Amino acid sequence: MNTETDPVAPRYITHIGRLALPQPFSGSLWSEPVKIMKDVWLEIKDGQILRIGPEGQPVPPDENDSEAFNADGMMVTPGLIDAHTHPIFVDSRQAEFVRRCRGETYQQIAADGGGIITSIRGVRAADQEKLSGLILERLDGFLNFGVTSIEAKSGYGLSFEDELKSLRALQKSAEDHPVEVSPTLLAAHVVPPEFQDNPDGYVDLICRDIIPQAATEKLAESVDVFLEDGAFSTSQAMRIFETAKKTGLACRLHADQFSLGAGARIAAEFGALTADHMDYTDEAGIDKLAENGVTVVLLPGAVFFLGMDHYAAARRMVEKGCRIALSTDFNPGSSPTQSLPLMMSLACIKMHLTPAEALWAVTMGGACALNRSDRLGTLLPGYQADVCLWDAEDIDFLPYAYGNITPEVVFKEGEVVAALLTL
Ligand code: NIG
Ligand code: FE
Repeated sequence: MNTETDPVAPRYITHIGRLALPQPFSGSLWSEPVKIMKDVWLEIKDGQILRIGPEGQPVPPDENDSEAFNADGMMVTPGLIDAHTHPIFVDSRQAEFVRRCRGETYQQIAADGGGIITSIRGVRAADQEKLSGLILERLDGFLNFGVTSIEAKSGYGLSFEDELKSLRALQKSAEDHPVEVSPTLLAAHVVPPEFQDNPDGYVDLICRDIIPQAATEKLAESVDVFLEDGAFSTSQAMRIFETAKKTGLACRLHADQFSLGAGARIAAEFGALTADHMDYTDEAGIDKLAENGVTVVLLPGAVFFLGMDHYAAARRMVEKGCRIALSTDFNPGSSPTQSLPLMMSLACIKMHLTPAEALWAVTMGGACALNRSDRLGTLLPGYQADVCLWDAEDIDFLPYAYGNITPEVVFKEGEVVAALLTL
């Protein structure tokens, strides 16, 4: 995909074969999460959608060729939104993958000193510039799959200096790239080796120093905690959330990934923006998440790549009226893919979402998870013109393609930022 195009910012996108319009969240959302319009045009002004033409009219009456981008019958969706990524790492971890192929589990490898902790070596040794370069390459990787906004976490530095260096590198890369980034501090990913005998001392450091500094430098919008055996306890997560809230940062949670815990309860209690993984969450937990408007971020790629088969009860979540997002969990350990279209396939096959539900979850669901649902996630008038053109007849083709699809053209705020086509 060519990301080096001259700026192209047309007034119209014409000849749209099908326009997919994910609907803003409401109590009746799940009866029709995505509305489809056939043979329409879009008008863009100041990076936003101004008007959508009537169905059956591929060209606006006042069209002037030089102001129009001809979509040539392609399908149009909003830019995709990846609501849970860990792009600030240096080295891959394929040796662990091979161990899993031979029968060891992710948790066994972690208990043996592998896993997340092995990624801190590279991040601690890298300077900010090196990290920024790597992050930029990864932002290009997301754009290639039609992703125009992401949430991105630190979490492989696990010291005051290295967590802040990671977030500063992220901020610098985001300034230089069209993909919009919502940064998250995940200092509470696992306890680093120097605090092995004093995990509460590490939580003290997070609450006393790391969160306040990240907030002062405006390096993070949210604070995330990995709540699981071998990571952080419920009481530690609650202390971290109290500090985050006092500092004005939103709360996110990795929870119920390998076992049922208190994740749904505390996400609801603290008004967390998202609760992520939630593969073991039970009916009572789903009720709490639905009632409290917590967006559940589904990560089927991590379940699949770790060779497990306990997927989140996504159908129950939809039936109970939850907001759901669907994400790659891009990271070097449990999910090294950046393909959201592939996650749509897994969500349909393994979690039994419909293609329309999966598309909602990678667009408006992602926008809810990024706290940007007033501006991103659909292409209704007033929303940002983040647009993907796909060589596809209809939305069912995206999960059907089984990862074997990238968009032909991507617009960010009305401007072409990536294109397979020669423009
Ligand atoms: O979301 N669960 C914790 N964190 C990541 C895994 C990170 C890693 O293995 O490096 C996840 O799956
Ligand atoms: Fe994660």
